[in-house]
Amino acid sequence: MNQRSDLSELQAGILDSLPEPVVLVNHLGNVLAANRAAEREIGVTYPGRALALSFRHPGALAAVDRVLAGGGTATVEVAIPAAAARTFKLRVAPLESQLMPGELGRRGAALVFHDITAERRAEQMRADFVANASHELRSPLSALVGFIETLRGPARDDQAVQDRFLEMMAAEGGRMARLIEDLLSLSAIEVNEHVAPSENVEIAAVVRGVAEALGPGSAAAGIEVVLDLPDDLPQTPGDEGQLAQVFRNLLENAIAYGGRGSVVRVTARPEPRLPDLGRAGISVAVADQGPGIAREHLPRLTERFYRVDKARSREAGGTGLGLAIVKHILNRHRGRLLVQSKAGDGSTFTVLLPSV
Ligand SMILES: Nc1ncnc2c1ncn2[C@@H]1O[C@H](COP(=O)(O)OP(=O)(O)O)[C@@H](O)[C@H]1O
Ligand SMILES: [Mg+2]
Repeated sequence: MNQRSDLSELQAGILDSLPEPVVLVNHLGNVLAANRAAEREIGVTYPGRALALSFRHPGALAAVDRVLAGGGTATVEVAIPAAAARTFKLRVAPLESQLMPGELGRRGAALVFHDITAERRAEQMRADFVANASHELRSPLSALVGFIETLRGPARDDQAVQDRFLEMMAAEGGRMARLIEDLLSLSAIEVNEHVAPSENVEIAAVVRGVAEALGPGSAAAGIEVVLDLPDDLPQTPGDEGQLAQVFRNLLENAIAYGGRGSVVRVTARPEPRLPDLGRAGISVAVADQGPGIAREHLPRLTERFYRVDKARSREAGGTGLGLAIVKHILNRHRGRLLVQSKAGDGSTFTVLLPSV
């Protein structure tokens, strides 16, 4: 507690037990008391001296002045610039109290800060997500509208052009459908992300099924998929459909980005002790021989719509949501995704899952 001797031990203890910053000032705007959270989070450090010396936020100081001059409770938003910037909602309330010996009958102010950083960040993310999703949907839609205009006008009597355009229209329509499917799938996963899955799953069978379904696609891309799945893998608690989605996304990426004539290897192993998770489980690594991913991109790969190479992703029919879906499904399964890759040296995406 950062205070003069004005507060009793009990009062100081109560203030310090509050998790959010509280500062009391007297009628002159000098700091009477600041709790630990105030020292730690907003750096109020000069007991007995003007608040403005340790807290330089003009909007907040103006609100304090208004309250000291007789105004009612005021609320302001305060951004604290720091390495990790924070935003607080600050309530400045009049303080007419026995707390302030020698200042009876004079009006001070209590500043109570409420941290809204996480709310603001969530709002921003939601807004960005809606903007991104709209943009992603609008581009195939604009392409479709453009093709329709051409088909109605200049290409009206040109069968060859019509055929080519219809082909491209089908591709754009497919892109929109995939995007909507991924968006729906992401929101469905988020809805039950906190509900632990209840089935027990044989991962080897799931991976085999996914690889089989992608067989024609990998053949068309000139990629050989090699499976190394031991028979003695322990079962994992999981949702079979969602885990299939995880491996489908990882295999689709490896096939899309691996490069013609290359090999994609899927290796599953029992793990007596999973890194980070500290318990037994299994690892499934999907390794490709593609161009790899430069280090600076790795932490952002699971963000929605984040792509290293937009044109390449588009060409491969990607939505930019695959790895975000993988991340959310693994969160639900208390699993992890590890990504090892160097530019020019292939990529390995490893899924860690706790076993039964
Ligand atoms: N195996 C891989 N090799 C190289 N880059 C990859 C691989 N997997 C994913 N990426 C990169 O991560 C981005 C995000 O992947 P993802 O979420 O699946 O979206 P996309 O729909 O673009 O495939 C991709 O656009 C690509 O840039
Ligand atoms: Mg993908």
